Amino acid sequence: MMESMSIADVHGRPLRNLRLSVTDRCNLRCQYCMPEADYLWLPREDLLQFEEIEQLVDHFLDLGVEKVRLTGGEPLLRRDLPDLVARLAPRTRIRDLAMTTNGVLLAGAAADLKRAGLHRVTVSLDTLRHDRFQQLARVAELERVRRGLDVAAEVFPGFKMDTVVIRGKNDDEMVDLLEFAGERGAELRFIEYMDVGGATHWSLSQVVPRAEMLARLSAHYGPITPIESDRSAPADRFRLPDGRVFGIVASTTAPFCEDCDRSRLTADGLWYLCLYAARGIDLRGPLRGGASPATLRELLTGVWHARTDRGAENRLATRERSPLIPIAALKRDPHLEMHTRGG
Ligand code: GTP
Ligand code: 5AD
Ligand code: SF4
Repeated sequence: MMESMSIADVHGRPLRNLRLSVTDRCNLRCQYCMPEADYLWLPREDLLQFEEIEQLVDHFLDLGVEKVRLTGGEPLLRRDLPDLVARLAPRTRIRDLAMTTNGVLLAGAAADLKRAGLHRVTVSLDTLRHDRFQQLARVAELERVRRGLDVAAEVFPGFKMDTVVIRGKNDDEMVDLLEFAGERGAELRFIEYMDVGGATHWSLSQVVPRAEMLARLSAHYGPITPIESDRSAPADRFRLPDGRVFGIVASTTAPFCEDCDRSRLTADGLWYLCLYAARGIDLRGPLRGGASPATLRELLTGVWHARTDRGAENRLATRERSPLIPIAALKRDPHLEMHTRGG
């Protein structure tokens, strides 16, 4: 086994965190992510096989990655996902092996994933109301998601929940969602709505900034205290007067690019250095073309050394903000959609 080394990009940021998308497909149509009925999907033969994913993950581990998160689209739509988890889990250099899911298929999959060696799950939930779920996700699946959350509470105690807060859509449910998470022993994170790609109709007026979230929550619960947290983690953590902990991901109003140690591998093997990057680096081509391990390693190292991305900060500095990428371009290239690169 090759020794891990620590590499740094132009801004001195190491590579520690890999988001591994296993499919671009999803069974929901969340308005902030994938609102259209139809998408141009990645061709099936382009998807990385599990052996190929393993090979690339090994290269990333050599470069210092220690956290791997399975994402999608919706990762549970990838056939035999527990098999992939079972292949990855024995690698002890993966200190944290997690998955982000919308929860629809979780009730039936959680036990198998746990057995296969998955450490943690994070489940997205934006509303507890059926009519709103239907409006926000275009599919009436709240009941299955709730069952998934109940099973997650048993199988992955202390799991996390992610809520994207959108003004006028679900911002009046913050307290209900915190209570709901608390009843299941989950740590909830409120996420500021981001203007990532896709036909999401994002506008700044729909963003509820972190400061406003905190003001609203303290009006209900009383004084809230910040907790010191890992600078490279997207979520700031806070404590309620009763001791419960929750998080806020302020990626729109307070980007964390300065300490960003993450990158993303799409299901078809493109490597994106930033959530906002317009292009990814093709790793599938060299891998299938028989590039030697040394060549691949050189490619990865060179690319990371040259990384300058600070996508969220640049977006914040842009005055006239409209959706990141025009719909016509999205219709031509699935990679411009955020859901291909794991949210
Ligand atoms: P933990 O290890 O559980 O803390 O995971 P995480 O917070 O890194 O991952 P999660 O998938 O739960 O991400 C939470 C939210 O942070 C996402 O839904 C995004 O809104 C945001 N986010 C994740 N990655 C990035 C990123 O690279 N850049 C920016 N700007 N936002 C991100
Ligand atoms: N803004 C904020 N978070 C988003 N996600 C996807 N799109 C957006 C967006 N526009 C995140 C959410 C969701 C996860 C899969 O990706 O946290 O729960
Ligand atoms: Fe990292 Fe890009 Fe997200 Fe900034 S916007 S935190 S650089 S991935």
